[in-house]
Amino acid sequence: MASLAFSSATTTKASSKPGPLFLLPPNRLKVEAVGFSDLPERPRISLRHGSNQGHRISSQFPPKTSVVSKQSTEVEVNMNTEDCLKVMISGAPASGKGTQCELIKNKYGLVHIAAGDLLREEIAAGTEKGKRAKEYMEKGLLVPSEIVVMMVKDRLLQPDAQEKGWLLDGYPRSLEQAKALEELGIRPDIFILLDVSEENLVERVVGRRLDPETGKIYHLKYSPPENEEIAARLTQRFDDTEEKVKLRLQTHHQNVEDVLSTYEDVIVRIKGDAAKENVFAEIDKVLSSVKEKKSQASMDSKAAAV
Ligand code: AP5
Repeated sequence: MASLAFSSATTTKASSKPGPLFLLPPNRLKVEAVGFSDLPERPRISLRHGSNQGHRISSQFPPKTSVVSKQSTEVEVNMNTEDCLKVMISGAPASGKGTQCELIKNKYGLVHIAAGDLLREEIAAGTEKGKRAKEYMEKGLLVPSEIVVMMVKDRLLQPDAQEKGWLLDGYPRSLEQAKALEELGIRPDIFILLDVSEENLVERVVGRRLDPETGKIYHLKYSPPENEEIAARLTQRFDDTEEKVKLRLQTHHQNVEDVLSTYEDVIVRIKGDAAKENVFAEIDKVLSSVKEKKSQASMDSKAAAV
């Protein structure tokens, strides 16, 4: 039987009184805001989850209070008969998308497709597309869709992504890109939005370093290199300056609402200011719940077909 348990490691002062059971179609996960914490520095919210199996589990979630604007939100889980997960992850520059994708990929075996990485590969290969893309990336602007859309679509349709499931990082970033995916019938099971304060974003950008040999992301303060040898070879991204991150943030704010409106029914907002392990713990709860529900739907559909 599918379970929607989101057991939480976080504590809260919010109400955890039991609420009504939800009767929902099998592909819907109801998330209802039932109480707010009085902790000003880190507002927390208590959620109830319900399923059509009559399960009701109360748990706590630590997003910003502004995150849940409606008192009750239904998160739709796309129930395809395959078990593999399809996940989109979004958030401002340096909100931790790449860091979380690494952890998600290791646990769930999804194929990680990062629009920014695909573009940087083109730049490194010195292609025409790469040269054009760099002009926009240096200004903190979105690279034109005619370059990005085909690039991401082709990668998504590769057999590994179709077989193992995918984790789409930093895409779509505009209504046009979202529409292009919709037209192809490409929709995520869940859309994770990382929410991080602007102050933290700037600090994360300027301290970020990359290991060109392993591709691993470091931060001089939060994830320092393991030894001197690695430290000596670390590089910095050309767009990781305080000045450029401000432009990238502006671009993000101009476009994010359009993208969110396309995925309103599958969005889960996660507070991303905490340590990366704690952020991952929240994401893990969401993904394991979705995965379990998908597996159950797949078993039900196979049983019905016999
Ligand atoms: P892209 O490469 O996607 O950059 P971004 O969105 O700005 O995001 P980042 O890669 O900077 O950050 P991240 O969220 O992955 O954070 P990370 O995990 O590294 O895009 C670059 C450019 O390409 C765009 O500006 C645009 O021009 C173009 N582009 C990309 N996609 C496009 C699209 N769809 N359409 C058009 N153009 C597109 O973490 C950052 C740092 O913080 C690291 O040092 C990390 O160690 C640290 N950190 C992470 N998590 C934590 C934590 N919890 N606590 C403390 N430190 C942390």
